[in-house]
Amino acid sequence: GGGRHGGPQRGQRDTRGQAAQPAPPPAPAPVPAGPIRVPRAVTVEEFASKVGRGPAEIIKMLLGMGELKTISQSLSDEAVELLADELGMTIEVVSPDTEPGPEETSEETEEESPELLEPRSPVVTVMGHVDHGKSSILQWYRKQEMLALEAGGITQAIGAYRVHNHDRTVTFIDTPGHQAFTQMRARGAEVTDLVILVVAADDGVQPQTREALDHARAASVPVIVAVNKIDKENADPTRVRQQLAELGLQPEEWGGDTIFVDVAAKQGTNLEELLDMVHLVADLQELKANPSAPARGVAIEAHLDKGRGPVATLIVQKGSLKIGAPVVCGPAWCKVRSMVDDMGHHLEVAGPSQPVQVSGWSRVPTAGDEFKAVRDEREAKRIAQEREARVRQAEYVAAAKPVSLLDLLAKTQTDALPELRMIVKAATQGAVEALVDALEKMDQKKVRSTVLRSGVGAITENDVTLALASGAIVVGFNVRPDVGARQLGEREGVDIRTYQVIYHLLNDIEAATKGLLAPVQQEVVLGTAQVRQLFRTPRGVIAGSYVLEGKIVRNASARVLRDGAIVYTGTIGSLRRFKEDVREVLTGFECGIGIPDFNDIKEGDTIEAYEVREVAQT
Ligand code: GTP
Ligand code: MG
Repeated sequence: GGGRHGGPQRGQRDTRGQAAQPAPPPAPAPVPAGPIRVPRAVTVEEFASKVGRGPAEIIKMLLGMGELKTISQSLSDEAVELLADELGMTIEVVSPDTEPGPEETSEETEEESPELLEPRSPVVTVMGHVDHGKSSILQWYRKQEMLALEAGGITQAIGAYRVHNHDRTVTFIDTPGHQAFTQMRARGAEVTDLVILVVAADDGVQPQTREALDHARAASVPVIVAVNKIDKENADPTRVRQQLAELGLQPEEWGGDTIFVDVAAKQGTNLEELLDMVHLVADLQELKANPSAPARGVAIEAHLDKGRGPVATLIVQKGSLKIGAPVVCGPAWCKVRSMVDDMGHHLEVAGPSQPVQVSGWSRVPTAGDEFKAVRDEREAKRIAQEREARVRQAEYVAAAKPVSLLDLLAKTQTDALPELRMIVKAATQGAVEALVDALEKMDQKKVRSTVLRSGVGAITENDVTLALASGAIVVGFNVRPDVGARQLGEREGVDIRTYQVIYHLLNDIEAATKGLLAPVQQEVVLGTAQVRQLFRTPRGVIAGSYVLEGKIVRNASARVLRDGAIVYTGTIGSLRRFKEDVREVLTGFECGIGIPDFNDIKEGDTIEAYEVREVAQT
């Protein structure tokens, strides 16, 4: 069903903005005439804005109907119907288009007039086999750059950086390896202009050398070969050339068209020359961009920063990104609050090929998603929401049989090669990659592990739904399921496992394949509360909170969650209602919670009370 029809909701765009009467702003928005249209699986927040009410009011109505929802959760069609009744409005649920709306495509077709184009620096990815020296090359350039920096600025690891060479610069993507490269390409992002293929002269072409080459070719990206470790006694750069020539990379000196540079990354030998060659090849590509166009590019890294919230490193591909610009990136949007480069400088403007870390996002963008600057904040928000709705719609799938790690144990006896499907969530992109990497390195002869989806942030209902639909388990690494996800998981029997150390997860899988799953300490969540107001007292900060679900119990273990990520683990030290110490507080009541030794709590945080029980697994 292509959804090729015009999409009635577009003509019916909410008109509250334009129709702004000179009424006092705090007054509730007027109810629009005619039916209100909301996309299927609309979030509470979006629903609230469509009907002109506050999200808290909607959450309260839902509670009255026995539905516990947080502001970012989706509403079922039934819930929308009930809310419509309650509000006395006519509300229609529409399927979001599976194709982008006109706003999304209008600018894609714009032509660049050649006279506006200016040269830009190349964006380079370093690839090659394990231990052949990818990181060493990047580190050497990085070190030179820092030495050249007079004031010794505070370098920032933002996932990419610029290296100066004579009067020109090269942008290096700091995530060596073809997996990251391919992940980005899988998302449609073509950010790399040139690949440096590193081959150790003492080891020659290895499996990952071939893989890297395949990936570079698949992307039609030119390759320069860095033959590394030529300082080693058993170095044989000629053999490397022969091996690569067999793979179709004919060295220039042998009449081919591939540039080979012999280097020693440890000493920095010939690394300047390698940069010269990068410029030479880049010049042949005539890399150009219009710096005055609206900014566009790709997010190459993103994570949740404890202090600054979601941050993402963007590489601008064309145009110039400015502070305050409204930007969308996949289903995330932001009004650029700050831009920091790899030397910790705050930038006002970032032009083509410039990597910058941007804060101010509505949520953590996904590495590999493209970004673009749009007209205004309103449009950014709307496009982001439409995209999110499309994603949710796609995942609104029928339930299949859930599995658990224990099922795997049963399967090992029957199936020749059981498959463990996983959905992996973690607090940072780096952790996600490390986890996926570790899983892939596991012994695949006993169990085949497949990661269906991985991402940054809390485990959401969408993750659990996908797990349910595809017979997968959900694995969280320093993140927790939100309330909806946990309830859905419990109700449908989806195995949600959270870990703080990768090794523990690997151990569990290993044990399950051997049928040795030890008795585990099972965690039982007692309840969750939302922090609404902070009170500073001589004994520390007290979090004035509202119990959303279950109960909060004094002396129970507790975690503090911010956007689904664990920011602190401790205990409920004090629990009060109206100045009275109490033992527990139930759903729907307010209370004051003190968590000893943790004063960094913030409004909007979630406190999760839990206890640990020992259960035998049979
Ligand atoms: P992975 O990230 O594990 O895939 O490895 P990598 O390709 O990033 O290799 P890395 O830069 O970590 O280097 C691997 C080892 O080779 C390290 O012990 C380096 O010190 C060493 N090494 C790197 N370059 C040179 C070199 O030019 N000469 C010598 N002798 N050793 C080198
Ligand atoms: Mg490395």
